[in-house]
Amino acid sequence: MAILEIQHATKRFGGFTAIDQVSLAVEAGSTHAIIGPNGAGKTTLFNLVSGLISPDEGSVRFQGIPLAKMKEHEIVQIGMARSFQKVNVFPRSSCAENVQVALIAHTALKYSPFRDASKLFRSEAEALLDLVNLQADADRRAGELAYGKQKQLELAVALAAEPKMLLLDEPTAGMSIAETKSSIKLIKEIVQKKGLTLLFTEHDMEVVFGIATTISMLHHGKIITTGAPDDVRNNEEVKRIYLGKN
Ligand SMILES: Nc1ncnc2c1ncn2[C@@H]1O[C@H](COP(=O)(O)OP(=O)(O)OP(=O)(O)O)[C@@H](O)[C@H]1O
Ligand SMILES: [Mg+2]
Repeated sequence: MAILEIQHATKRFGGFTAIDQVSLAVEAGSTHAIIGPNGAGKTTLFNLVSGLISPDEGSVRFQGIPLAKMKEHEIVQIGMARSFQKVNVFPRSSCAENVQVALIAHTALKYSPFRDASKLFRSEAEALLDLVNLQADADRRAGELAYGKQKQLELAVALAAEPKMLLLDEPTAGMSIAETKSSIKLIKEIVQKKGLTLLFTEHDMEVVFGIATTISMLHHGKIITTGAPDDVRNNEEVKRIYLGKN
Protein backbone atom coordinates (compact mmCIF):
# COMPACT_ATOMS: atom_id res chain seq x y z
CA MET A 1 0.00 0.00 0.00
CA ALA A 2 1.31 3.45 -0.89
CA ILE A 3 1.66 5.80 2.08
CA LEU A 4 2.61 8.66 -0.25
CA GLU A 5 1.26 9.24 -3.74
CA ILE A 6 2.47 11.98 -6.03
CA GLN A 7 0.43 12.36 -9.20
CA HIS A 8 1.51 14.40 -12.21
CA ALA A 9 3.20 17.03 -10.04
CA THR A 10 4.76 19.99 -11.82
CA LYS A 11 6.61 22.90 -10.20
CA ARG A 12 7.89 25.89 -12.13
CA PHE A 13 10.12 28.71 -10.98
CA GLY A 14 9.41 31.47 -13.48
CA GLY A 15 9.91 29.87 -16.87
CA PHE A 16 11.99 27.01 -15.47
CA THR A 17 10.33 23.65 -14.80
CA ALA A 18 12.05 22.13 -11.74
CA ILE A 19 9.56 19.25 -11.33
CA ASP A 20 7.99 17.98 -14.53
CA GLN A 21 4.91 15.74 -14.38
CA VAL A 22 6.27 13.56 -11.60
CA SER A 23 4.18 10.56 -10.51
CA LEU A 24 5.55 8.45 -7.70
CA ALA A 25 4.18 6.03 -5.12
CA VAL A 26 6.10 5.37 -1.92
CA GLU A 27 5.11 2.07 -0.34
CA ALA A 28 4.47 1.98 3.41
CA GLY A 29 7.47 0.53 5.21
CA SER A 30 9.83 0.98 2.27
CA THR A 31 13.18 2.76 2.29
CA HIS A 32 12.92 4.77 -0.89
CA ALA A 33 15.85 6.73 -2.31
CA ILE A 34 15.59 9.59 -4.79
CA ILE A 35 18.82 9.86 -6.72
CA GLY A 36 19.87 12.28 -9.44
CA PRO A 37 22.57 14.80 -10.32
CA ASN A 38 22.83 18.27 -8.75
CA GLY A 39 19.85 20.37 -9.75
CA ALA A 40 17.74 17.32 -10.72
CA GLY A 41 14.91 18.56 -8.50
CA LYS A 42 15.30 16.31 -5.44
CA THR A 43 15.01 19.04 -2.81
CA THR A 44 12.17 20.68 -4.72
CA LEU A 45 10.33 17.36 -4.72
CA PHE A 46 10.83 17.10 -0.94
CA ASN A 47 9.56 20.65 -0.54
CA LEU A 48 6.41 19.71 -2.45
CA VAL A 49 5.89 16.58 -0.38
CA SER A 50 6.37 18.35 2.95
CA GLY A 51 4.11 21.27 2.05
CA LEU A 52 6.85 23.91 1.97
CA ILE A 53 5.76 24.76 -1.57
CA SER A 54 2.69 23.78 -3.61
CA PRO A 55 2.74 22.18 -7.04
CA ASP A 56 1.50 24.24 -9.99
CA GLU A 57 -0.15 21.11 -11.30
CA GLY A 58 -0.83 17.66 -9.91
CA SER A 59 -1.39 16.40 -6.40
CA VAL A 60 0.30 14.87 -3.37
CA ARG A 61 -1.53 12.50 -1.02
CA PHE A 62 -0.16 11.26 2.26
CA GLN A 63 -2.05 8.31 3.82
CA GLY A 64 -4.77 9.06 1.31
CA ILE A 65 -5.13 12.68 2.47
CA PRO A 66 -4.61 15.40 -0.18
CA LEU A 67 -2.01 17.88 1.04
CA ALA A 68 -3.12 20.71 -1.24
CA LYS A 69 -4.65 22.97 1.40
CA MET A 70 -2.59 21.84 4.38
CA LYS A 71 0.05 23.90 6.15
CA GLU A 72 3.48 22.47 6.88
CA HIS A 73 2.79 21.89 10.60
CA GLU A 74 -0.48 20.15 9.79
CA ILE A 75 1.39 17.75 7.53
CA VAL A 76 3.84 17.07 10.36
CA GLN A 77 0.87 16.50 12.65
CA ILE A 78 -0.51 13.71 10.43
CA GLY A 79 2.79 11.88 10.52
CA MET A 80 5.39 13.29 8.14
CA ALA A 81 8.66 14.66 9.48
CA ARG A 82 11.64 15.94 7.53
CA SER A 83 15.18 17.14 7.86
CA PHE A 84 16.81 19.73 5.62
CA GLN A 85 19.85 19.62 3.38
CA LYS A 86 21.43 22.31 5.58
CA VAL A 87 21.64 21.84 9.35
CA ASN A 88 18.61 23.31 11.07
CA VAL A 89 18.90 23.40 14.87
CA PHE A 90 18.77 26.20 17.47
CA PRO A 91 22.54 26.61 18.04
CA ARG A 92 22.32 28.49 21.37
CA SER A 93 19.87 26.07 22.95
CA SER A 94 20.96 22.80 24.50
CA CYS A 95 20.32 19.54 22.72
CA ALA A 96 17.63 18.66 25.26
CA GLU A 97 15.94 22.04 24.73
CA ASN A 98 15.98 21.58 20.95
CA VAL A 99 14.08 18.31 21.35
CA GLN A 100 11.83 19.68 24.12
CA VAL A 101 10.73 22.54 21.89
CA ALA A 102 9.83 20.04 19.18
CA LEU A 103 7.92 17.88 21.67
CA ILE A 104 6.07 20.92 23.02
CA ALA A 105 5.19 22.11 19.51
CA HIS A 106 3.89 18.68 18.62
CA THR A 107 1.91 18.21 21.81
CA ALA A 108 0.71 21.79 22.17
CA LEU A 109 -1.16 21.38 18.95
CA LYS A 110 -3.06 18.54 20.61
CA TYR A 111 -3.44 19.67 24.27
CA SER A 112 -2.34 23.33 24.66
CA PRO A 113 -0.62 22.74 28.02
CA PHE A 114 0.51 25.46 30.46
CA ARG A 115 3.40 24.07 32.43
CA ASP A 116 6.99 24.94 33.32
CA ALA A 117 8.61 24.83 29.90
CA SER A 118 12.15 24.07 31.09
CA LYS A 119 11.05 20.79 32.70
CA LEU A 120 8.42 20.01 30.14
CA PHE A 121 9.16 16.77 28.32
CA ARG A 122 12.71 16.65 29.68
CA SER A 123 12.57 12.89 30.19
CA GLU A 124 10.93 12.33 26.81
CA ALA A 125 13.63 14.51 25.22
CA GLU A 126 16.30 12.45 26.98
CA ALA A 127 14.77 9.26 25.63
CA LEU A 128 14.93 10.63 22.08
CA LEU A 129 18.51 11.82 22.56
CA ASP A 130 19.29 8.33 23.81
CA LEU A 131 17.82 6.90 20.62
CA VAL A 132 20.18 9.00 18.46
CA ASN A 133 23.21 8.35 20.72
CA LEU A 134 23.34 11.88 22.12
CA GLN A 135 22.53 11.00 25.74
CA ALA A 136 25.86 12.44 26.95
CA ASP A 137 25.26 15.74 25.11
CA ALA A 138 21.81 16.64 26.48
CA ASP A 139 23.02 19.84 28.17
CA ARG A 140 25.53 20.95 25.54
CA ARG A 141 24.62 23.76 23.21
CA ALA A 142 23.59 22.40 19.84
CA GLY A 143 25.91 24.87 18.08
CA GLU A 144 28.93 23.34 19.84
CA LEU A 145 28.34 19.86 18.48
CA ALA A 146 30.32 18.39 15.62
CA TYR A 147 28.45 18.41 12.31
CA GLY A 148 27.58 14.70 12.43
CA LYS A 149 26.11 15.10 15.89
CA GLN A 150 24.02 18.09 14.78
CA LYS A 151 22.49 15.85 12.14
CA GLN A 152 21.76 13.25 14.85
CA LEU A 153 20.06 15.99 16.86
CA GLU A 154 17.95 16.91 13.84
CA LEU A 155 16.83 13.32 13.69
CA ALA A 156 15.75 13.44 17.35
CA VAL A 157 13.86 16.68 16.63
CA ALA A 158 12.13 15.05 13.66
CA LEU A 159 11.21 12.00 15.76
CA ALA A 160 9.63 14.22 18.41
CA ALA A 161 6.62 14.55 16.10
CA GLU A 162 6.09 10.77 16.20
CA PRO A 163 6.20 10.48 12.41
CA LYS A 164 5.09 7.54 10.30
CA MET A 165 7.25 8.76 7.47
CA LEU A 166 10.62 10.44 7.54
CA LEU A 167 12.03 12.61 4.74
CA LEU A 168 15.79 13.03 4.86
CA ASP A 169 17.43 15.34 2.34
CA GLU A 170 21.05 14.19 1.98
CA PRO A 171 21.43 12.95 5.56
CA THR A 172 25.16 12.28 5.15
CA ALA A 173 26.15 15.36 3.12
CA GLY A 174 29.30 16.96 4.51
CA MET A 175 30.06 14.02 6.78
CA SER A 176 33.35 12.17 7.11
CA ILE A 177 33.42 8.52 6.05
CA ALA A 178 33.23 7.43 9.69
CA GLU A 179 30.32 9.80 10.42
CA THR A 180 28.51 8.58 7.30
CA LYS A 181 28.84 4.96 8.37
CA SER A 182 27.59 5.47 11.89
CA SER A 183 24.86 7.82 10.76
CA ILE A 184 23.49 5.31 8.24
CA LYS A 185 23.60 2.55 10.82
CA LEU A 186 21.66 4.78 13.19
CA ILE A 187 19.05 5.76 10.60
CA LYS A 188 18.57 2.12 9.65
CA GLU A 189 18.10 1.08 13.29
CA ILE A 190 15.61 3.85 14.01
CA VAL A 191 13.60 3.17 10.85
CA GLN A 192 13.35 -0.50 11.84
CA LYS A 193 12.65 0.13 15.51
CA LYS A 194 9.90 2.65 14.80
CA GLY A 195 8.54 0.93 11.68
CA LEU A 196 8.98 4.11 9.63
CA THR A 197 8.73 4.69 5.91
CA LEU A 198 11.88 6.49 4.79
CA LEU A 199 12.17 8.72 1.74
CA PHE A 200 15.66 10.11 1.28
CA THR A 201 17.99 11.73 -1.22
CA GLU A 202 21.67 10.92 -1.30
CA HIS A 203 24.67 11.43 -3.55
CA ASP A 204 26.70 8.61 -1.99
CA MET A 205 25.78 5.54 -4.04
CA GLU A 206 27.24 3.19 -1.44
CA VAL A 207 24.76 4.58 1.08
CA VAL A 208 21.90 4.42 -1.43
CA PHE A 209 22.49 0.82 -2.43
CA GLY A 210 23.27 -0.11 1.17
CA ILE A 211 19.86 0.81 2.56
CA ALA A 212 17.30 1.52 -0.16
CA THR A 213 14.59 -1.04 -0.93
CA THR A 214 13.37 1.11 -3.84
CA ILE A 215 15.20 3.73 -5.88
CA SER A 216 13.86 6.45 -8.16
CA MET A 217 16.09 8.38 -10.49
CA LEU A 218 15.23 12.02 -11.11
CA HIS A 219 16.77 13.96 -14.00
CA HIS A 220 15.82 17.47 -15.16
CA GLY A 221 12.73 17.24 -12.96
CA LYS A 222 11.49 13.98 -14.48
CA ILE A 223 11.41 10.47 -13.04
CA ILE A 224 13.57 8.33 -15.32
CA THR A 225 12.87 5.05 -13.54
CA THR A 226 11.67 3.59 -10.25
CA GLY A 227 12.56 0.08 -9.16
CA ALA A 228 14.47 -2.35 -7.00
CA PRO A 229 18.15 -1.43 -6.48
CA ASP A 230 19.42 -4.07 -8.92
CA ASP A 231 17.03 -2.95 -11.66
CA VAL A 232 18.06 0.68 -11.23
CA ARG A 233 21.74 -0.23 -11.11
CA ASN A 234 21.39 -2.02 -14.44
CA ASN A 235 19.20 0.59 -16.11
CA GLU A 236 21.08 1.91 -19.16
CA GLU A 237 19.75 5.44 -18.85
CA VAL A 238 20.68 5.63 -15.16
CA LYS A 239 24.18 4.38 -15.95
CA ARG A 240 24.54 6.91 -18.69
CA ILE A 241 23.25 9.91 -16.75
CA TYR A 242 24.65 9.25 -13.36
CA LEU A 243 26.39 6.16 -12.17
CA GLY A 244 29.09 6.26 -14.81
CA LYS A 245 30.13 9.70 -13.66
CA ASN A 246 30.80 8.66 -10.06
N1 LIG B 1 13.17 28.86 -5.25
C1 LIG B 1 13.72 28.62 -6.45
N2 LIG B 1 13.71 29.54 -7.41
C2 LIG B 1 14.26 29.32 -8.63
N3 LIG B 1 14.85 28.17 -8.98
C3 LIG B 1 14.90 27.20 -8.06
C4 LIG B 1 14.34 27.36 -6.74
N4 LIG B 1 14.54 26.22 -6.04
C5 LIG B 1 15.19 25.39 -6.87
N5 LIG B 1 15.41 25.97 -8.08
C6 LIG B 1 16.07 25.35 -9.24
O1 LIG B 1 15.43 24.10 -9.47
C7 LIG B 1 16.38 23.11 -9.85
C8 LIG B 1 16.28 21.95 -8.91
O2 LIG B 1 16.81 22.32 -7.65
P1 LIG B 1 16.86 21.34 -6.42
O3 LIG B 1 17.43 22.10 -5.28
O4 LIG B 1 15.52 20.73 -6.23
O5 LIG B 1 17.88 20.23 -6.94
P2 LIG B 1 18.55 19.02 -6.16
O6 LIG B 1 18.32 17.80 -6.97
O7 LIG B 1 18.10 19.00 -4.74
O8 LIG B 1 20.09 19.40 -6.25
P3 LIG B 1 21.29 19.09 -5.20
O9 LIG B 1 21.72 17.68 -5.49
O10 LIG B 1 22.34 20.07 -5.58
O11 LIG B 1 20.78 19.28 -3.81
C9 LIG B 1 17.74 23.79 -9.85
O12 LIG B 1 18.04 24.19 -11.17
C10 LIG B 1 17.52 25.01 -8.96
O13 LIG B 1 18.37 26.06 -9.32
MG1 LIG C 1 19.02 19.17 -2.96
